Amino acid sequence: MTTMTTLPRGYDQLPIPFGWFAVALSNEIQNGDIRTMRYFGTEFVLWRGGDGGLRAVDPFCPHLGAHLGVNSNVVGNDLRCPYHHWQFNGDGGVTKIPYTDVIAPSMKRSCLPTWPVEEVDGVVYVWYHPAKAAPKWEVASIPDCPEGEWVLAMTREWIVNIHCREIPENGQDHAHFGAVHGVPFAPKGEMKVDGWIRHNKVEAEMKTPRGLMVGRIETTATGPCQSVVEYKDVTHVVQCQQVSPIDASTTHVRWQMYYAPGLSDGQLRVTQARIRDLLSQVDQDIPIWNNKQSMEKPMLVQGDGPILAYRRNYDRYFDFVPDPVPEAVAAE
Ligand code: FES
Ligand SMILES: [Fe+2]
Repeated sequence: MTTMTTLPRGYDQLPIPFGWFAVALSNEIQNGDIRTMRYFGTEFVLWRGGDGGLRAVDPFCPHLGAHLGVNSNVVGNDLRCPYHHWQFNGDGGVTKIPYTDVIAPSMKRSCLPTWPVEEVDGVVYVWYHPAKAAPKWEVASIPDCPEGEWVLAMTREWIVNIHCREIPENGQDHAHFGAVHGVPFAPKGEMKVDGWIRHNKVEAEMKTPRGLMVGRIETTATGPCQSVVEYKDVTHVVQCQQVSPIDASTTHVRWQMYYAPGLSDGQLRVTQARIRDLLSQVDQDIPIWNNKQSMEKPMLVQGDGPILAYRRNYDRYFDFVPDPVPEAVAAE
């Protein structure tokens, strides 16, 4: 379902937050693969070297401007530009020029802006900050599984025509659970902020094959992109969600759904039904997301949930203070 309304919706007026953002699943990029990635209203080039490590750089070669995602090659762990075969390492330094040995030390150190990359639980993250400030927190991992190793049930992804702030906000929007998802009573929840981490605990009625039952939903959100949501009732499902801005009004949503090992056939059926139900909730939200307007001053009433508290907390991801310039450099 794409956007139906032709009216301006205002999301392109919002800034793109800084943070770690998912840009791929690990298994989508093999050794030697090069990808031009389009996120944050810009592009960067990501490659996996022969050692299995990922590197990311700005797209245009500092020599004469060729696009490093087009007809380039991976040589060892380095990226070779298609135009004159200069090679770059993951620090953005020139490692080889085929027709000269005279390479300035500054070019060897770094002459091509890089992007911090991490891989955690099979997801590739890059750090985005418009002023290129260094990462301020670490990518979160899935919590330990009390019963052993989590079983990956499935992965899903959606492209939604909305600003990325609105996707986690949906979990704070208590009143829509009844209207959109058929959960008859608004969930009762609490929200706590601890550094760059936001915890939400909600008790909600959840659908099971045996009817509605009260379950706990515990969300741990790290930064603006990552949420780990644990559903605890007759079953134990973990939903790892990442929301990544392709641009200010387009968001790439990824889910990896896990459950505990050693389930009985009955528990497995409940688990699979729960996962199907959660997936259908996204499908129910998407037509609304794709057509709603950005409401910076919503007309809220009692029972709407902590939407404004969520936004106030989120505002820090729009606070683009650059890293301080080291004194030795400033004195030059
Ligand atoms: S433009 Fe890249 S090597 Fe010349
Ligand atoms: Fe929803």
